[in-house]
Amino acid sequence: MATDIIMRIAGEGGEGVISTGDFLMQAATRAGMEVVTFKTFPSEIKGGYALSQVRISDNKIYSQGDTFDILVAFNGEAYAINKKELTPGKIMVYDFPGGDFEPQDHNGVHMYPVPMTKIAKMELKAPIAKNMVALGAVSEIFKVPMDSLIQSITDKFIRKGQAVVDKNLEAIEAGARYVRENIKKTDTRVFPSPTPQKDVIIVEGSEAVALGAMVAGCRFFSCYPITPATSIANYMSSMILKANGFVYQAEDEIASIANCLGASFAGVKTMTSTSGPGLDLMSELLGLGSMAELPVVIVNVQRGGPSTRMPTKHYQADLLSTAYNSHGDTPKIILAASNVEENFYLTIDAFNLAERYQMPVFMLSDASLAIRTEAIPVPDISKIKIENRVTYAGKKDEQEKFLRYVNTKSGISPMGIPGTPGASYAATGLEHAEDSGPRTNQETRNMMTEKRWRKLENIEAEYTNIEVDEQQGAEVGIIAWGLTASITKEAIQRLRNKGYKVSAMYPKMVYPVPVNSIEKFASKIKTVIIPEANYQGQFAQLVKAKTNNVNPVKLNIYRGEPFIPKEIEDFTEKYLTKGSS
Ligand code: COA
Repeated sequence: MATDIIMRIAGEGGEGVISTGDFLMQAATRAGMEVVTFKTFPSEIKGGYALSQVRISDNKIYSQGDTFDILVAFNGEAYAINKKELTPGKIMVYDFPGGDFEPQDHNGVHMYPVPMTKIAKMELKAPIAKNMVALGAVSEIFKVPMDSLIQSITDKFIRKGQAVVDKNLEAIEAGARYVRENIKKTDTRVFPSPTPQKDVIIVEGSEAVALGAMVAGCRFFSCYPITPATSIANYMSSMILKANGFVYQAEDEIASIANCLGASFAGVKTMTSTSGPGLDLMSELLGLGSMAELPVVIVNVQRGGPSTRMPTKHYQADLLSTAYNSHGDTPKIILAASNVEENFYLTIDAFNLAERYQMPVFMLSDASLAIRTEAIPVPDISKIKIENRVTYAGKKDEQEKFLRYVNTKSGISPMGIPGTPGASYAATGLEHAEDSGPRTNQETRNMMTEKRWRKLENIEAEYTNIEVDEQQGAEVGIIAWGLTASITKEAIQRLRNKGYKVSAMYPKMVYPVPVNSIEKFASKIKTVIIPEANYQGQFAQLVKAKTNNVNPVKLNIYRGEPFIPKEIEDFTEKYLTKGSS
């Protein structure tokens, strides 16, 4: 029988909820399963409601799912928040007796009380190990392979010392023993038995961005820490130094983008990462990057804004501020990833595009995607195409004059890299002539403005990374971007399983808007729906503004968590009629 299990571990931040979910995720991956995680926690270091959800399946999965099958409740708050979802057939493992709550009767729900706090405090004398008591209990009830847990626990806690590892292994055994001696299993759920491992690696969203940057050839990274983008810096700093690169924590976001532009001028591939408020600070320097035609990749890990608002929460609301970022006419490209694997490949694309077009290229991630973990197929690096900027080879004779901004047909002109004979030029924010000297007469101004924009004239034909999943006879189509795209895929699957015809499109480049593809897609259907995790319907607005007569129906959430597939499924179903042809 096919396996599709969703485990939700819920409790207080600081209780080790996230680690517990991570250990289960690792066990599932070692068992050769597909895994998608969803984590959400408050911005406090300790306290507040934290959740870690692990969905495992032997089929391809796109989303975190609608709800849970198994709830592991560490405290009364976790129970109170989740109890409305405790419907018959579901399972709850919870801290009782000795915890801070006693649940009501839930008809048809399999209830497994385990005194997690009591065992950790009284028996183990280690309150922090409560989560491992819970994990031991869960692994005994659902037959999670113990050797995998032991491996993961040892790997994670060894940096805290062997005593910490031993205490946690003791806690695992204490939880398992309690179940063996006191609990009678009433449900039939079991963890899948290990199958030969697929060729996969377990990667977190932000880690995938960093890996992509390294593969693309990034050798200079500068940023100012900001939640939820900081983990990219953590990953970059551990990798880039080993590759003879340079990482620099700047005093603010203005300095970090300025550092990157300087490194880019020097011929190095460079990246910075930030979140909404940090991008605002970068905006003046982005004008310089655009004017001086310097390649740079800027990762914007979107969070619940505006201002500090909900820095650890999911939101897709920086699309317009990124698209219209900076002053004047600033050509730019924005890519948005829908899952962890795309964070890797689209970061490489972002570098390739920045190098090819010599301009700032943005990569949009978000707070949820940044910490989502997936098991992704090991990339075959030898098959990945890496692009480098066109450079000036150097002076052949004394008469030759290097024209950094030569007005070519494509708008792309060779960059002079410092140290190359005769390649010096001024990378200036002033309007300039082909030789980079300041010039503000009308002819030059017009020529240079048009040259800078001409680079993007054929971008849609030149960057064709767009997924189109059309169904003959469909009258409704969903266009989804970012993390919402992967959740939409599951909604589409369910609607088709119900017998509906429905099409879908998932653009990877969200700016410039892929107008031709969208118009073609929309011309075959009656209704275009765009679900987005923002209030205004930002992509829907762009589509309406840029296309000829495509007027999407908006579906918006802004609560700080991603869509669940059911929301998109239910909303779309209202527009569908079965058997339409
Ligand atoms: N034994 C020993 N240590 C344990 C343990 C155990 N049994 N279980 C967990 N821990 C440790 C973890 O290793 C981790 O320590 P580390 O950071 O040194 O690795 C710590 O306890 C927290 O455990 P973890 O499972 O990672 O998280 P949690 O579920 O307890 O939730 C967070 C804590 C993640 C919510 C919180 O720490 C946090 O980071 N909040 C967000 C802060 C933020 O970004 N604010 C925004 C500012 S703008």
